[in-house]
Amino acid sequence: MREADLYALRPVASYDIRVFGDPVLRLRATEITEIDDGVVRLAHDMIETMYAAPGVGLAAPQVGVQRRMFVYDAHDETGAHVVINPELRDHSGEWTYEEGCLSVPGLYWPIVRAKEVHLTGIDLDGNELSIHADELLARIFQHEFDHLEGKLLIERLDSEQRKDAMRELRTRALELPGEPAGGRRSAG
Ligand code: NI
Repeated sequence: MREADLYALRPVASYDIRVFGDPVLRLRATEITEIDDGVVRLAHDMIETMYAAPGVGLAAPQVGVQRRMFVYDAHDETGAHVVINPELRDHSGEWTYEEGCLSVPGLYWPIVRAKEVHLTGIDLDGNELSIHADELLARIFQHEFDHLEGKLLIERLDSEQRKDAMRELRTRALELPGEPAGGRRSAG
């Protein structure tokens, strides 16, 4: 049975996104050794969940699955993409961007990260990926890669920002719905 037929057998499901405080967000995700039907279904469900949020990226641990896969849509008209077992190298430059995370809903901070980065990995068909990314795309790759390492964007804040963030998280107790991504800020 072709992958597309298999996929057509069931509706796409949207997951609940795990939020700050959930231990799965703090674990290193494990490599995917075989792209089986479960991985394909997970990828499609993650894309659905990302669009429903809405966000520009989503990593498997954010839906409670401790595997090295993320999905993204950088709004460049190429649609949604899946990256399995990503590696990042050649970080260069600095770029500050108002960054949020679907697992830390409703909060954004200006965060400095590398402006450019080179990503390798494989796609859902098992093809090797090699992408030189700049600005927003590089930001998404670094953010989602961090999720696979068990890191949240809070760890990228300076100590003053982090103090404010923790205070804000305690006060709001994460009860606000996530704000829609817009303008020069996005969540993943
Ligand atoms: Ni995130």
